Amino acid sequence: MTRKTVRIAMNGVTGRMGYRQHLVRSILALREQGGLDLGDGTTLWPEPVLVGRREHALRALAERHDLEHWSTDLDTVLADDSVDIYFDAQVTSAREEALRQAIAAGKHLYTEKPTATGLDGALELARLANAAGVKHGVVQDKLFLPGLLKLKRLIDGGFFGRILSVRGEFGYWVFEGDWQEAQRPSWNYRAQDGGGIVVDMFPHWEYVLHELFGQVRTVQALTATHIPQRWDERGKPYDATADDAAYGIFELDGGVVAQFNSSWAVRVNRDELVEFQVDGTEGSAVAGLRDCRVQHRATTPKPVWNPDLPVTESFRDQWQEVPDNQDGADGFGNGFKAQWELFLRHVYADAPYRWDLLAGARGVQLAELGLRSSAEGRRLDVPELTL
Ligand SMILES: NC(=O)c1ccc[n+]([C@@H]2O[C@H](COP(=O)([O-])OP(=O)(O)OC[C@H]3O[C@@H](n4cnc5c(N)ncnc54)[C@H](O)[C@@H]3O)[C@@H](O)[C@H]2O)c1
Repeated sequence: MTRKTVRIAMNGVTGRMGYRQHLVRSILALREQGGLDLGDGTTLWPEPVLVGRREHALRALAERHDLEHWSTDLDTVLADDSVDIYFDAQVTSAREEALRQAIAAGKHLYTEKPTATGLDGALELARLANAAGVKHGVVQDKLFLPGLLKLKRLIDGGFFGRILSVRGEFGYWVFEGDWQEAQRPSWNYRAQDGGGIVVDMFPHWEYVLHELFGQVRTVQALTATHIPQRWDERGKPYDATADDAAYGIFELDGGVVAQFNSSWAVRVNRDELVEFQVDGTEGSAVAGLRDCRVQHRATTPKPVWNPDLPVTESFRDQWQEVPDNQDGADGFGNGFKAQWELFLRHVYADAPYRWDLLAGARGVQLAELGLRSSAEGRRLDVPELTL
């Protein structure tokens, strides 16, 4: 077995996503399992080069995980020929510029979503990366979640018959930051800093809908800023200028209607922080991050509307759990790590990979059109993107 070291510049690893999901749960987890076996006698050994703005934070992180390489100078890291891949989990507003630099330096790219703050920039990145001949991938982690993998299995197995509609319910209460610390970064609530729930969540809804149910053809959204004032990381009040809730309706290729509520100002009365209910002629399913429950046509109860009588059936108990049916110690692995593995196989073993910068641009497009739909108060077509 040959061991091939792969150096990956990881920018934004002091952040929530960069640290927990990408560094610890993906790249360091790959090292813990002995690297990534490509199946051709080669094991890839990922070696992160931590990149960021704050020296003390990077040094502390490197020490905590016994990592040798870190830098606050992106230019120097990109000029280093031994670095193959540039990964970006910075705040959204800093991404486009850094990705452009990485493309110019000839690095392969792997990046968080949204890839840019506007559609033009997102498409330009895809064009530039293709012209430079580098490989590129965009995080679409929800596709690799156990709940959605089970949903996909049901779709592929023909469980639903004709799919009619999809209802997505996403959200939880994000504390304002005054009497309890907010559990999300304050830039998320400032439009001028790339925040907003549409920009954050519509890219996810785009690929979830597209990959499972059909490409989005129209969007109609109503956004709101329910909480107009919040308190930042230093306890200072600020105006929340971005949307913190979005109520969207999407028409899909093939006629499926999807309706998604996304909110950071909602209290959870669900089993999971996101749930998708799919209704089809033959059966229905409710999938969360991990679990998925189904109800078949043959086991569907026949409720009769009568507000004069108390409910006698326990509707939730009439659903059946979809089993994992998945090998491995913990069944499904971490979704971010699963996608990293596919990307590394794409770069080093030429495995096919479709979650690229064009796919990322579709997410940016849906967010942009969602915001416009809300501002203009009308339903908008979602044109097919080409490069
Ligand atoms: N795939 C997902 O499920 C998912 C979930 C949440 C966030 N995200 C995306 O990941 C990215 C990071 O989000 P996060 O929640 O980890 O944010 P965060 O605020 O926790 O981290 C941001 C990172 O960017 C760095 N940074 C660079 N320039 C900065 C600047 N000018 N101001 C502030 N920080 C700066 C910070 O040091 C930090 O490392 C965003 O683009 C977001 O859309 C993806």
